[in-house]
Amino acid sequence: MSKKRLFTGLQPSGTLHIGNYFGALKPFLDTYEEYDSHLMVADYHSLTTLKNSDELRRNTVDVVKDYLAAGVDPKKAVIFKQSSVPEHTELAWIFECLVSVKFLELAHAYKDKVAKGLEANAGLFNYPMLMAADILLYDTDIVPVGRDQQQHVEYAREAAKKFNLAYGDLFKEPTEKIVEGVGTVPGTDGQKMSKSYKNTIPLFGTKDEIQKAVMGIVTDSTGDRPENVYAIHKLFRTDAELEVIYEENKGKYKNLKEALLEDVEALVAPLREKRDSITDEMVAEVLKAGGEAARAEAAAKMSQVRQQIGII
Ligand code: ADP
Ligand code: TRP
Repeated sequence: MSKKRLFTGLQPSGTLHIGNYFGALKPFLDTYEEYDSHLMVADYHSLTTLKNSDELRRNTVDVVKDYLAAGVDPKKAVIFKQSSVPEHTELAWIFECLVSVKFLELAHAYKDKVAKGLEANAGLFNYPMLMAADILLYDTDIVPVGRDQQQHVEYAREAAKKFNLAYGDLFKEPTEKIVEGVGTVPGTDGQKMSKSYKNTIPLFGTKDEIQKAVMGIVTDSTGDRPENVYAIHKLFRTDAELEVIYEENKGKYKNLKEALLEDVEALVAPLREKRDSITDEMVAEVLKAGGEAARAEAAAKMSQVRQQIGII
């Protein structure tokens, strides 16, 4: 029996943080070899927020380095850039013509932006249909993502259904894979850890950067236990282990932060070392090979799409 297809994407919109690691990277690492895996750098998605070309170029290389350093083997997964495969934006347009404005208005990323009184660009509004195209072009079975992306995978299923209904069966309906017990990793301020909230603990940061982030965790809890520290610490140790540490250091927030810092550093130090050995040229080679492989698959699927919708 052939392996099931796994597909996931990540935005090159900044340095990875431990929320990305526990919410997306680690679950990917734990299972990607069991599947026929694709890992995509969502550079077009990042344009919804990132408007700096040098930064985009730099981040794209950096994020691939991050994944290679964390242990993804480019021989065992197709690693590629979304922009290497123009079929993604082409298919997104077709999906946009199948779903309603009302449906897209319910998407969290858009809704949250509007709720904050900010103006969303049209790209952000259409974002779930580009993501649906990413996933569906490759006949994906499983999409490992953090809980915040669950709705987007539901949107991809809906896009597949709508297309299949309108033009006949072509797309497989994918399933999200959310890591239980991790869900949303909180940041140093207790909100969801996110680049855009500037509340992250960097995954490949220097020792000083990590120390600064951990020591800066907001501890305004009223009890004996600094909840924001504990919530992050839970990712590194069992409840039983934490019970002992937090009991011994009741009310001593600085000690508890130092204990957490030690655990974060134990995870990060070897990764940091490996990352320093990966060159820009190595990344370029990986992305070139991955882009060619992905493009060949996407082009074949897209020619079926064009056939079915009557473009040819
Ligand atoms: P950010 O919110 O920092 O911009 P991204 O949206 O680029 O992060 O997320 C990349 C991947 O990491 C996604 O699969 C997302 O679900 C996961 N992820 C991001 N933040 C968290 C978090 N705080 N907890 C769990 N998973 C997360
Ligand atoms: N939207 C995802 C995020 O911000 C990134 C992404 C783009 C993705 N395309 C995807 C994730 C396809 C999974 C599958 O994290």
